[in-house]
Amino acid sequence: MKIITTCSEMTNYSQGARSRGSTIGLVPTMGALHDGHLSLVKIASQHCDCRVMSIFVNPTQFGPSEDLDKYPRQLKRDCELAEAAGCDAVFAPSPQEIYPDNYNTYVNVENITGVLCGASRPIHFRGVATVVLKLFNIVMPHTAVFGSKDAQQVIVIKRMAEDLNLSVQIIAAPIIREADGLAMSSRNVYLSTQERAEAVLINRALMSAQKLYDAGERSCQSIKDSAKSILSEGRLISAEYIEIVDTTLLKSLDKINCLALLAVACRTAETGTRLIDNVVLGGDL
Ligand code: PAJ
Repeated sequence: MKIITTCSEMTNYSQGARSRGSTIGLVPTMGALHDGHLSLVKIASQHCDCRVMSIFVNPTQFGPSEDLDKYPRQLKRDCELAEAAGCDAVFAPSPQEIYPDNYNTYVNVENITGVLCGASRPIHFRGVATVVLKLFNIVMPHTAVFGSKDAQQVIVIKRMAEDLNLSVQIIAAPIIREADGLAMSSRNVYLSTQERAEAVLINRALMSAQKLYDAGERSCQSIKDSAKSILSEGRLISAEYIEIVDTTLLKSLDKINCLALLAVACRTAETGTRLIDNVVLGGDL
């Protein structure tokens, strides 16, 4: 597996692959890889000949009081895991390589980035859209795979790809969970033992909502109330939001009469860790 650190070398690599007739699948990550990330490589393999994973802790998507400095970085281990998962190349640039001096251009996807996670993370999706568009331009993938765990992120990226006529196919992959149901996340390592035990309530809350939906309930208030009551069993976990929205404009719904995203964000009391999870009622993203 090739490890590439400069944009020019990455583009050369992709141009070479394309000129040999290979299709390229990109899996963008910030590293600290877990099975959720690695599942995306498998999906990329089903669509493309050549798998490229980017590993870049993107500073522009972290707010001033967020965890940029303490975000786990373990490039050597990540490269071993990426290779074992079947990646052909890892693109691991430095911040300076992606944001050189005098950098001034950002991508703003409007309206759908100010709700859900965007309400408390106002610059987050601007940073995500910017780095993802840059990665698309540098890696030139035919397909890019994103996890549904970050549902708003996939929806924002699909919007950007459509709005800007990008010729990249965006695939939303299923959420990979720990045995007890907690969605895998690089941030789970921050959790204290007690928080980790309570974190299982998030998935339980989503499952109870799914059960109500499957039984025919369409009132968003009833579904949200059921999820809230399960989450409130946790002493160390509090909900930042529990919302049911449509999957295109992310508008809040009263009654479910279309594909609906039930999205939850929680904050833990001891370590201040932010956890997100979701379920799509009525289908997939
Ligand atoms: P990161 O949090 O490292 O996640 C990289 C990709 O892995 C994202 O598409 C995310 O949705 C997916 N992922 C994370 N946990 C998952 C799980 N449990 N199951 C399935 N997929 C999962 O998301 C980012 O990085 C960044 O915002 C990025 C897109 C790389 C831009 O900087």
